[in-house]
Amino acid sequence: MERPIGIFDSGVGGLTVLTHLQTELPHENMIYIGDNIHCPYGEKSKEQLLSYTRQICDFFISQNVKMIVLACNTTSANVLSELQVLYPQIPIVGVIHSTVHDFLNRDTKNVLVIATQATIQSHKYQELIHHYHPDINVYELATPKLVPLIESGEYKNGIENTLNHYLQPYLDKVDSLILGCTHYPIVLGQIQKVFPDKEYISSSESICQEVSSYLKVHQMYCQQTKLGEIKIYTTGNPKEFRYSSEGFFHYQQLNIEHLQF
Ligand code: DGL
Repeated sequence: MERPIGIFDSGVGGLTVLTHLQTELPHENMIYIGDNIHCPYGEKSKEQLLSYTRQICDFFISQNVKMIVLACNTTSANVLSELQVLYPQIPIVGVIHSTVHDFLNRDTKNVLVIATQATIQSHKYQELIHHYHPDINVYELATPKLVPLIESGEYKNGIENTLNHYLQPYLDKVDSLILGCTHYPIVLGQIQKVFPDKEYISSSESICQEVSSYLKVHQMYCQQTKLGEIKIYTTGNPKEFRYSSEGFFHYQQLNIEHLQF
């Protein structure tokens, strides 16, 4: 059970999931992949997403992982069930179910879901919320400018204007906001400034409980007493990856290696 957990996203966004997982499961070994060469995922077709994620899953399997976490809403919305069929030997979890459950626990009636184009087009959030509660008003909004602003590191200079442009029309319409992209918690502070006093539900946080429960129920917890080993790879440029994530991710001597499939 010392086998690592494999976690991936299109870039630095999934590090928000990794951070929560490290807190929740400090003894687990983990391998993170940021598929920056193909970022942003939000504008890709289902076929493209499946091809990228198959390469990643094949790599994880070569590394003998015990579980794969899609730290990415776009792939969770579009290719999760396909990957589960292709790799039946390994548990694969996405972020959307746990985020919706987290949202339903908040007991709010009008929600805005912000996410990438491909997640919004799938209508997965709306479908799942309405499956449990048909009376909840679900507004869906694609916010495609955000991931490039975060990946480039521009968010560090403030992106309130862009956030305001997207969110302002919904200020009086909703009482809660689902951050349906794992990149968005990186700018949560800025979101709260332009869109205050809402319930904020982050897919990066919600997924951790599900991973932890799964490992517990299946007796797959790592038994070691030392802190888990974390390996980080990017298919892009490690320097750029470090620059964009240094504002929110604490590296503590972690190296970022380049990965080529
Ligand atoms: N962070 C990912 C998500 O949760 C992917 C964003 C992108 O690459 O467009 O959707």
